Amino acid sequence: MLNNLISVKNLKKSFGGIKAVDVQELSFIEGELTSIIGPNGAGKTTFFDLISGFQNADSGDVFLKANNISNSQPYKIARMGMVRTFQLTKVFDRMTVMENLLFSGSNVNNDSFLRSIFKLNSQKVYEKSLKDKANEIMNNLNIGHMADSYARELSGGQKKLLELARAIINDPEILLLDEPLAGVNPKLAEDILSLIKKLSEDGITVIMVEHNIEAVMKISERIVVLAEGSLIADGSPSEIRTNNNVIEAYLGKSDE
Ligand SMILES: Nc1ncnc2c1ncn2[C@@H]1O[C@H](COP(=O)(O)OP(=O)(O)OP(=O)(O)O)[C@@H](O)[C@H]1O
Ligand SMILES: [Mg+2]
Repeated sequence: MLNNLISVKNLKKSFGGIKAVDVQELSFIEGELTSIIGPNGAGKTTFFDLISGFQNADSGDVFLKANNISNSQPYKIARMGMVRTFQLTKVFDRMTVMENLLFSGSNVNNDSFLRSIFKLNSQKVYEKSLKDKANEIMNNLNIGHMADSYARELSGGQKKLLELARAIINDPEILLLDEPLAGVNPKLAEDILSLIKKLSEDGITVIMVEHNIEAVMKISERIVVLAEGSLIADGSPSEIRTNNNVIEAYLGKSDE
C-alpha cells in the first residue's frame, strides 16, 4: 500500500448533543492533494482542530506517521511538520506583516540549542536568513510591498495570503488549509490555487477544506466528504461528482 502519513481511528467529538466528528477510519497519503468538503456544520473545521491539536477528541486516535499524536499540543504537532491555517485568519493585527512572518518562522524552526552554542554572531546570520526567506515568500504572494504595514491594514484576501505565508515559512511537510479561498476575489483565488498546486508538486502533502467546488474539482487528486460529522464518500473528483450520497447531503441542506 501507499504511505499513510496521517491516520485517524474512531475519532469522535461532540458538543452537547451534536456529533461534530465521528470518523471510524480515514488516512491521508504522503504527497497527495486531498480536499475535504461537506455542508456547513459537517465537522470539517473540528476535524482539523482534532488532528492539529487545537481541540481534544472525546475518544479515538490520531497518528502522524508512526506517532500517536492524539491530544498532543499544537506546537508539538507543528514541529513534527504538520502546520495549519484557520478559516478565520489568526494573524497578529498589531504586528507588521514581516513581524508576523518572523514570529511564525522562529516558532517552529527553533534551533535555539545551536544558536546558544554559536551565540550572537550566528543569531544574526539566522535572523538574516529568516528575513530573506520571509521576503521571498511575501514577494511570491504579492504582499512584499506590505511588509512594514500592520496586519490589521490588510484586506481580507491579503490576510489569507499572510496566513498562508506564515504556514509556508515553517517548511511544512503537511499543510492543512481551512477554506483558503473564502472571501478572496476570483483573480486572487486563481493565484492561491496555483500556489497550492505548486506546493503539492514540491512534495508537500496538502489537505484542504474548501467550499469552492469548482476549485476543489480542479486541483484535488482525492476528495473526502463529511456530513454531520461522518465520512460519507471518498474518491477521485469524477467519482465524487456523481456520488448519490454527496448529492443528497448537499441538497438536503439547501437552505444556503
Ligand atoms: N466550540 C464549539 N461549541 C459548540 N459547538 C460547536 C463548536 N465548534 C463546532 N461546533 C458545532 O459542531 C458542528 C461542526 O462544526 P464545524 O465548524 O466543524 O463545521 P464545518 O464543517 O467546518 O462548517 P463550515 O463549513 O460552516 O465551516 C456544528 O454543528 C457546529 O455548530
Ligand atoms: Mg469550518
